[in-house]
Amino acid sequence: MSTKLSPEVFGERRERFLDALGDAVAILPAAPVRVRSNDSDHRYRPDNDVLYLTDFAEPEAVAVFAPQHPEHRYVLFVRPRDPERETWDGRRAGVEGAVSTFGADAAFPIAELEERLPDFVDGRERVAYRLGRDEVFDRRFIELLSSYSTTRRAKGPGPHTIFDPGEIVHEMRLHKSPEEVAVMRHAAASSAEAHRAAMASAAPGQCESEIEALIEYTFRRLGGIGPAYPSIVGSGANATILHYIENSRRIEDGDLVLVDAGGEFAYYAADITRTWPVSGRFTAEQRAIYEIVLHAQLEAIERVRPGISQHEIHEGVVKSLTEGLVELGLLEGPVDEAIENGKYKAFYMHKTGHYLGMDVHDVGKYKTAGQWRTLEPSMVITIEPGLYIAEDCESVGPQWRGIGVRIEDDVLVTTDGHEVLSAGAPKLVADIERIVGTSAGAGVGT
Ligand code: GLY
Ligand code: MN
Ligand code: MN
Repeated sequence: MSTKLSPEVFGERRERFLDALGDAVAILPAAPVRVRSNDSDHRYRPDNDVLYLTDFAEPEAVAVFAPQHPEHRYVLFVRPRDPERETWDGRRAGVEGAVSTFGADAAFPIAELEERLPDFVDGRERVAYRLGRDEVFDRRFIELLSSYSTTRRAKGPGPHTIFDPGEIVHEMRLHKSPEEVAVMRHAAASSAEAHRAAMASAAPGQCESEIEALIEYTFRRLGGIGPAYPSIVGSGANATILHYIENSRRIEDGDLVLVDAGGEFAYYAADITRTWPVSGRFTAEQRAIYEIVLHAQLEAIERVRPGISQHEIHEGVVKSLTEGLVELGLLEGPVDEAIENGKYKAFYMHKTGHYLGMDVHDVGKYKTAGQWRTLEPSMVITIEPGLYIAEDCESVGPQWRGIGVRIEDDVLVTTDGHEVLSAGAPKLVADIERIVGTSAGAGVGT
């Protein structure tokens, strides 16, 4: 299937954005290129708000939205075509392509930005611009606005209010259109396939990096841009380190492996975690912890529907995990007290989920007017409870130490419930034990 959004989708988003701007003007610069080291740059990753509104993925560009402008409501400033530079750095749409391919009402070389911006800003009282993302551009922007303090008398009032365009765009991004849901379904299904490939190929003696490579190879093979965030492959006690990304240990027989990896497809993220025994069989302790987490996760997913807040879901997960820990004797009861005094946080120290979209921790407010916001249809969230018993945890017997389990799925809120987008990645004990190691040693691509 095609994972690309159509030009109509971007056009429709721009109309909604222009409408919401009212009498304001918006200036959205492309993300800067970041130096990796010396003369080598990081692979370019466009800004998600710019991408969302324009589909334009080149650096050194600025999108201007001016709903009140008599001719040009949507303007792109871009790098002009340059055969020599394009031989070195890649193709450019140029000024012509910005209009013909990307639908701008007008486009100009980026070098003309300063000279032409007043045409869009003069007479506007409010400017939507996000400060703090790009210091160099911030300075240019502040200079432009400062110039109005001296010309105000001659030209009429210049802008006196700056606001974050995210106030508009992030609310738009929070609710996924049917086209976006189709892309996210594809991202999650492809990422689930990568997890299945990792489970199937697993064998003791493998390095964590081999699993990382197979997963990221699968993202690319299925048309993904790459990982949506640094992949975590933590075996043994590495599974108890929440942001473990070295992925350099050799996996030993009997280890659990925690894999938190999701692909980026057409600039939309998946975010999936699975935890499985490399030998294909859980030990009694691993299984006991796994089943507590799985039970809490399944229960939490069941609660996902319009009207519930993520905070309520988190509280349910905390209760469920704490009950499991108390029952196993790993945490002193009663359950209410262990929750009240926060003792459970020794084993569960993160939240149960977050919004998911173009960003893995996607934009959108979690609280409005001081209240936890409730879920609405077309939001996508993750549900990701876990338990992590540090290898030096002295309050539990040695057989429990170093066990880390997280199970994470991507869940679309529907009008009457939910749809698990990442359901293709096995998580029931029997399914995991069936698949792990079935293609061990066969290598990549089988
Ligand atoms: N992989 C980042 C997260 O699970 O939130
Ligand atoms: Mn997550
Ligand atoms: Mn994750």
